[in-house]
Amino acid sequence: MRKNIVAGNWKMNKNLQEGIALAKELNEALTADKPNCDVVICTPFIHLASVTPIVDSALIGVGAENCADKVSGAYTGEVSAEMVASTGAQYVILGHSERRSYYGETVEILEEKVKLALANNLTPIFCIGEVLEERQAEKQNEVVAAQLASVFTLSAEDFSKIVLAYEPVWAIGTGLTATPEQAQDIHAYIRSLIAEKYGQEIADNCSILYGGSCKPSNAKELFAKPDVDGGLIGGAALKVADFKGIIDAFK
Ligand code: 13P
Repeated sequence: MRKNIVAGNWKMNKNLQEGIALAKELNEALTADKPNCDVVICTPFIHLASVTPIVDSALIGVGAENCADKVSGAYTGEVSAEMVASTGAQYVILGHSERRSYYGETVEILEEKVKLALANNLTPIFCIGEVLEERQAEKQNEVVAAQLASVFTLSAEDFSKIVLAYEPVWAIGTGLTATPEQAQDIHAYIRSLIAEKYGQEIADNCSILYGGSCKPSNAKELFAKPDVDGGLIGGAALKVADFKGIIDAFK
């Protein structure tokens, strides 16, 4: 059956020393009080090689927040999936709404990134979600269905290796959270699309995380919904007490 996962997305926060300190503190907290779910921290590229050796890989997975859509070569400033994997990281967030909207990442670019991540044995945490106007126009189902095109060209075997994250853009960093019912409705819809494409077993085994202003006070209610398999956490992943509070929603 599918895994419950709480993943942190540090975004562009914490310098190297602060990031190392945060990872160490989280590792200590989870060593003392073991989680009942998988825990992942996705950090800026420059932190990866320092963070992977200091966390217990049985307790905490490490991931990047992006990778290049090219294998290697003259792409100044880019970081390849192979480079990410060579740090010991096991995950990579792809398709975050901030990457889609600020850096022009399209369905096609993301398809390349997902394939390269998988070719390098990284688990993509693939993000989808609608903006406020789309939600107000009740177009959220259409929007996520179109975004899934980046991963619906994968073989069934490869698709079963990815994690999905539904992040309504209107809930990211705004303090507005989708209600547990809103999250459940769209997660169930996403799972039904997976079932149509790959069959019920693969759909049942796919972890679908919720992201957007998730915090200790609302995590339990959200994660209690049958199709919500954990969270992708931004702001609250930057403080161990908050992140652990969310992890403890599975206790
Ligand atoms: P917040 O938890 O800060 O709303 O961010 C969610 C997010 O974008 C995680 O990827």
